[in-house]
Amino acid sequence: MMTTRRQVLATAARLGVGAAGLGALVSRPRGSAGAGAPRTIDLEAREVRWELAPGKTVKAMAYNGQVPGPEIRAREGERLRVIVKNALAEPTTVHWHGVDVPNGMDGVPGVTQDPVQSGATFTYEFEARPAGTRWYHTHFDEHRQMDLGLAAPLIIEPHGKEPLAHDRELTVVLDDWATGTGRPVPSTDAGTAAGRGSAGGMMSGMRRGGSMGGMMGGRGMAGMMGGGNEPAYDVMTINGKAYPATQPLRVKAGEHVRLRIINASAEHTHVVRLAGHRLRVTHTDGNPLQAPVEVDALPIAPAERYDVVVVANRPGAWFLHCTQPGHVQAGERMLVVYENHAHATPPDPEPGIAGLTLWDYASGHGRPVLPAATGESRTSVMTLSGGMMGSDDWTINGKRYPDTDPITCRKGDRVRIALRNMSMEAHPMHLHGQSFRLLAANGTRYAEPLVKDVVDIEAHMGSAVIEFTAHNGGDWFFHCHKPMHMMGGMIALVRVK
Ligand code: C2O
Ligand code: CU
Repeated sequence: MMTTRRQVLATAARLGVGAAGLGALVSRPRGSAGAGAPRTIDLEAREVRWELAPGKTVKAMAYNGQVPGPEIRAREGERLRVIVKNALAEPTTVHWHGVDVPNGMDGVPGVTQDPVQSGATFTYEFEARPAGTRWYHTHFDEHRQMDLGLAAPLIIEPHGKEPLAHDRELTVVLDDWATGTGRPVPSTDAGTAAGRGSAGGMMSGMRRGGSMGGMMGGRGMAGMMGGGNEPAYDVMTINGKAYPATQPLRVKAGEHVRLRIINASAEHTHVVRLAGHRLRVTHTDGNPLQAPVEVDALPIAPAERYDVVVVANRPGAWFLHCTQPGHVQAGERMLVVYENHAHATPPDPEPGIAGLTLWDYASGHGRPVLPAATGESRTSVMTLSGGMMGSDDWTINGKRYPDTDPITCRKGDRVRIALRNMSMEAHPMHLHGQSFRLLAANGTRYAEPLVKDVVDIEAHMGSAVIEFTAHNGGDWFFHCHKPMHMMGGMIALVRVK
C-alpha cells in the first residue's frame, strides 16, 4: 500500500523520530507539484553545542539547530526555494546531492557560485527531481563542516505510485565524529560494495587507528598506507545520536517498515544489520530496483543511500547496528522494539559478517530510468591514486584538481567513465547534476545496471565503469566523497555544453 503524506507524518510522530523526522513538519510538500509559486524553506547554518550521547557534548555546525538538519520532503517536480542564512563565522554553501538542479544551484564554491559569506544569505531554487532518497550538505571545507554536522535528508516522493510497497518509514542518517573522547575506530576501506563477499573484502584495517608510534616519524604502517591527517573518528551516530541516546524504532508485528539509509560519514563504510531480520533492498541512491533483494547485511559507502524494507515478523526487541569492527562500541546501534515488547531484552549485537549474505553491486537489477542518449558516445579512463607514504595528495590520472583534465561533452552525449583504483583506500566517486548507470565493477558487467550517483571503487585495484547521458548543462564536479581525498585533489570537472 502507498504511504500518504499524512501517514508519513503520523508515523514520524509515532516512531518518535525526533529532530530529523520532525524537521519534515517545516517542509511539507504541497498537494500539487510544480504549479504556482515555489514553496519557501528557511535554513540557517550556525554553530551549536550538540549532545551525541550523555557526557559527549561537542561543538557542532547545524542546520536549524539540529543534527542531522531538518528533513526536507518534496513532491517530485515541486519547486523549492531554500533560503540559506549563513550564521557561521565562516563561509558555506549547500549542495543538493542526487538532485538534478540547474548548475547555478549546485553549491560548489568557485565553480557554480561564490561562497556564502558569514552573515549573508543565498537563495537556492530548483525543481525537486528525480524522486528518491536524496540529501543536502555543505560543500565548503567539507572536511570540517560536514564532519561537524552540516548534512540532512532530502526526500523526494514520486509523482506516481511508489513502486515498492511499505506501511511506514524512517530516515536513518549514519555519521562519524572525531571528538577526541574515545578510542579511534579502525578504518575499514577494503570493504566495498563490489567485493564484499570475498575473503579480503572486510579486513578490519590497521590503516590509521591501528599501529601508531612505529617507523615513519611515528606514524608507522598507518602513515605509509593512508592519508596522514585523517581525523580520528571515535563516535558513530544514527540520526545525530550515539547509543544509548539513539531513538528506538517502534514497530508492530506484520508491518513493512521502509528505512531510508544515508551514509553521511566522511570516511567510514557501514555495514548495517538488523538482528533477527533480513533487509529487502529496494533502492540504490534513491533509484528503485526492479525487485527487492533480500540480504542479511548492507554495506553502505560514504554518500551512498539505500532504501530497505524490513518485514516485522519476529516480535521482540532487536538492535539495528553496524557490523564493522568498533562501530557498535562507538555508538552505532539503535533499538527496534515491537509493540507489547517494551521490556524484552535485545540480544547483544554480533560482531562481524561471517555466514551473512551481504548486498553487493551485482545483487540488484536497476530500472532503465535515465534519459536516452541522442548525441555522441565518448569514453574516459580515470586512474585513481594517491595517499602514498602518508601523503594527503589524491590524484586522477596523476593530477590534482584543478589540474585534472575535464571531460567535455555536449547535451545528449553518452559519457562513459572507466575507473581504476591504484591506491590503498576505497574511493566513493560522486557525480553532480545527473545520475549514472553502473555498467560494471571489478571486471563483472551488469546486464541491468543499477542507477546511482555514487560508486565505491574498491581499494587495491578495484574498478568500475559508469555511463550517463549528459542531460544537464554546466560544469559539474565528479569527485571522491571522502572530504580529505577531495581536498587532496581527487576531483575532475564534467563540462556539459
Ligand atoms: Cu555529496 Cu560534491 O557531494
Ligand atoms: Cu577517495
